[in-house]
Amino acid sequence: MVLAVESLNRLLHCWILLISLIFVVNGQFPTTLEGPFKPVTVPVNYSIIGQVTSLPVDDNPPLSPEIEFQPQQISLSLSSDLSSVWVSWITGEYQIGDDIEPLDPQSVASVVQYGVYKSGRNNLAAGSSFIYSQQYPNEDLNNYTSGIIHRVLVTGLDRDTMYEYQCGDPSIPAMSEVHYFRTMPSPPKDYPSRVAVVRGLGLTYNTSTTISHMAANHPDLALLVGDLSFADLYCKNGTLCDFQNCSFPQSPLQETYQPRWDHWGRFMQILTATVPTMVIEGDHEIEKQADNLTFTAYNYRFAFPSDESGSTLYYSFNAGGIHFVMLGAYVPYDKSSDQYKWLERDLFNVNRSVTPWLVAAWHPPWYSTYKDHYREAECMRVQMEELLYKHGVDIVFNGHIPLTPRTDSWVASVDSILHLVRQLVISAGMNSLNIVHIEKVALAMGFLR
Ligand SMILES: *[C@@H]1O[C@H](CO)[C@@H](O)[C@H](O)[C@H]1NC(C)=O
Ligand SMILES: *[C@@H]1O[C@H](CO)[C@@H](O)[C@H](O)[C@H]1NC(C)=O
Ligand SMILES: *[C@@H]1O[C@H](CO)[C@@H](O)[C@H](O)[C@H]1NC(C)=O
Ligand SMILES: *[C@@H]1O[C@H](CO)[C@@H](O)[C@H](O)[C@H]1NC(C)=O
Ligand SMILES: *[C@@H]1O[C@H](CO)[C@@H](O)[C@H](O)[C@H]1NC(C)=O
Ligand SMILES: *[C@@H]1O[C@H](CO)[C@@H](O)[C@H](O)[C@H]1NC(C)=O
Ligand SMILES: *[C@@H]1O[C@H](CO)[C@@H](O)[C@H](O)[C@H]1NC(C)=O
Repeated sequence: MVLAVESLNRLLHCWILLISLIFVVNGQFPTTLEGPFKPVTVPVNYSIIGQVTSLPVDDNPPLSPEIEFQPQQISLSLSSDLSSVWVSWITGEYQIGDDIEPLDPQSVASVVQYGVYKSGRNNLAAGSSFIYSQQYPNEDLNNYTSGIIHRVLVTGLDRDTMYEYQCGDPSIPAMSEVHYFRTMPSPPKDYPSRVAVVRGLGLTYNTSTTISHMAANHPDLALLVGDLSFADLYCKNGTLCDFQNCSFPQSPLQETYQPRWDHWGRFMQILTATVPTMVIEGDHEIEKQADNLTFTAYNYRFAFPSDESGSTLYYSFNAGGIHFVMLGAYVPYDKSSDQYKWLERDLFNVNRSVTPWLVAAWHPPWYSTYKDHYREAECMRVQMEELLYKHGVDIVFNGHIPLTPRTDSWVASVDSILHLVRQLVISAGMNSLNIVHIEKVALAMGFLR
């Protein structure tokens, strides 16, 4: 996959998304009940295509911790229990190259001090820590071992409440700054007021624009629909490589530059330390390494509500009155697979009185007329589409290609989307973004099943 083409696609997509959203916001867009419609696509406008510029990773010292083992790359994610939130962070530095000696994960404690906003951080939660490695059997490629990754489940939180917290090891002492977050509201009648959905972020000057934009809009929840750091597009010397097999054409494995993940994590902290962020894998997270291991960075760097699904590569969670189903397009999904069986159980157990909205997300879209990745996810569609229809999924979010179709085919009536999508903020660049403002008032029960 050529990055130039991807970036081109993204820019184009932004324009088309913008145009289509103007329609939605104006209420001009017909509902599917008036369809079916012939798919309409817009030809590529080559004059609006730009090149992306990677953010240099060596000159962002403000984002590096000043004290040794001070937390960096702090992120929050939701657990399957509405009264708990995961806090994750990394301490210590990664190592790359020859003769690397992994850090001892037990050498730094994993503690979160927290409390309701302005009433002191008098509660303590402790968690676990680990490291991961990305290794290549080819001696020419750089092995990598991460800093210490910490993960703490903070439990017993009240709904719809602002909390403050610090994380780190109080005995060093190396605690983070104080950060804040708001817990999800109570189902069924209450919804997160803004959910930011973004895909294909990377780490470029344009990512910078997008993340500032997202953070400035204070979403309550962020969904990253795959293709996160694009570390797999960088060569062993850290430069962007616009094709696989960059430095070593004969290597059976595509090299990655794992430090991009660390820089990405530091960069994302402005959003992820405050906004619970849920990720689902894209093809750029596969990152095959020695012993056929895949998705290692993805699995270790994020916390997931994966106990029920048994996998980090597909899972579900609730956010107020919305049940989110995150599906894995790069793990088995056929009717006999664990994922499919889990999905059947999960959807069967959704109680629409508790979560009136049912939203699904996965990386490659099932419907697309775009020539790039054309019908790539067709097998997944054939296996799973009927099940999602049967359970009345309201909205689907995808990434992967620029011309991700709107979700009309998924909603009984686009009216419900018109009320859902009340406020949209678009930012263009290495990615596209829409912030969906779910207005509580607009979600009158009349629109819900
Ligand atoms: C292509 O984009 C440029 C720059 O935005 C614009 O001036 C031009 O009219 C567009 N061309 C077409 C055919 O839409
Ligand atoms: C994307 O970043 C480039 C610099 O790399 C800049 O010239 C361009 O204006 C940015 N585009 C947007 C839409 O922000
Ligand atoms: C990287 O790790 C692998 C083990 O998976 C080892 O075989 C290889 O020699 C290491 N490479 C270097 C350059 O140390
Ligand atoms: C990094 O490696 C790639 C692939 O070998 C090469 O094309 C590029 O010029 C190198 N960049 C630098 C700055 O050394
Ligand atoms: C790299 O190139 C070799 C030889 O052309 C090929 O067998 C291998 O599949 C390629 N690896 C990737 C990750 O594309
Ligand atoms: C990796 O996968 C290949 C192809 O499926 C298989 O032949 C090989 O034995 C596997 N290697 C290991 C170490 O599992
Ligand atoms: C669904 O939730 C409602 C409200 O909590 C409850 O009354 C009802 O019994 C639940 N239905 C099932 C099938 O569990």
